[in-house]
Amino acid sequence: MIQHNTPLLPYNTFGLAARAAHFTEVFDVRELQSALQSGIQPVLILGGGSNMLLTQDVPGLVIKNAIRGMELVRSAGNTAFVKVGGGVVWHDFVCWAVEKGYGGIENLSLIPGTVGAAPVQNIGAYGVELKDVFVELEAVELASGQQQVFNHADCRFGYRDSVFKHENKGKYCITSVTFALTQQEHKLHLSYGDIQKTLESNGVTQPSIADVSKAVIQIRSSKLPDPAVIGNCGSFFKNPETDRAVLEKIRLSHPQVVSYNLPDGRVKIPAGWLIEQCGWKGKRVGNTGCYEKQALVLVNYGGATGTEVKNLAYAIIDSVEKTFGIRLEPEVNIF
Ligand code: EPU
Repeated sequence: MIQHNTPLLPYNTFGLAARAAHFTEVFDVRELQSALQSGIQPVLILGGGSNMLLTQDVPGLVIKNAIRGMELVRSAGNTAFVKVGGGVVWHDFVCWAVEKGYGGIENLSLIPGTVGAAPVQNIGAYGVELKDVFVELEAVELASGQQQVFNHADCRFGYRDSVFKHENKGKYCITSVTFALTQQEHKLHLSYGDIQKTLESNGVTQPSIADVSKAVIQIRSSKLPDPAVIGNCGSFFKNPETDRAVLEKIRLSHPQVVSYNLPDGRVKIPAGWLIEQCGWKGKRVGNTGCYEKQALVLVNYGGATGTEVKNLAYAIIDSVEKTFGIRLEPEVNIF
């Protein structure tokens, strides 16, 4: 059933009051294909609405992917192949996997959004990325309604990046994703950030995947705002990758600069650090602002418009560029 002039406020974690000209929710592939047959254009697929900034009403048809299902499809040695519906809430999938004893995604606990949106930006946190456990996905091409399979290579994953942000942008609805998880002898990733420290303070010496998931939840909740309380989309910007010479130049004026080495000899500098140095952390502008505990996150204190958030984002981008010569790129999709 297609609705008209539908408020999108409940469907985006920034809590922005845009409307969809037409809107429908689909619970299986057949419903998706029949919504596409309505011929209403353009089509925008919505997952958890946790990575989008709506600066205007959305024309055409917004389709909310509500395709559910989580199942073990095959077990081979230590590997469990699990297939998950694109509309499943990502964190629900993580909890299900941890409970079943399947390892590999515990570091990705509490990432907002849905399973179908996860491959689009190759979600990642605490040293693990979706691409590390990804096998294949099924997607329906919006123009034809045909279902296609994309394997790992087809997706061309990069840092917060995939083919679905480039030539396939806006062309597919991801209906299911298959993952390869471990059944025992899990490979834990504990070296990133505060995980080890948090496990120790929890009194854990031999962590299980459940312990790691719990620690990640504790760390994320202490730094990142809960969208149910303060509207936000997680990291608003990507961490920029630059030549080492740029880092060395910054080091002259800011000896304490934080950086991570990349395999190709370049470096990644945390955008949160750059933004904080420019004085934005905790700053409020009208109804929007830069979060006090993590400068990479922009927030809606209530009643902000998408344009207000976008203006703040571009003021930050300009200010970081003026100070450091680095132009930040939004990670969030701006409509
Ligand atoms: N930092 C600051 N000031 C800040 C924030 C960070 O100086 O306000 C510095 C910290 O001191 C730290 C460094 O930046 O040394 C890295 O900070 P953090 O570990 O919090 O991670 P991040 O690089 O800011 C990335 C992801 C997050 C993910 C964390 C943990 C991106 C764009 N963001 O943030 O992902 O949770 O690492 O792995 O890569 C998301 O995508 O929505 C998200 C939250």
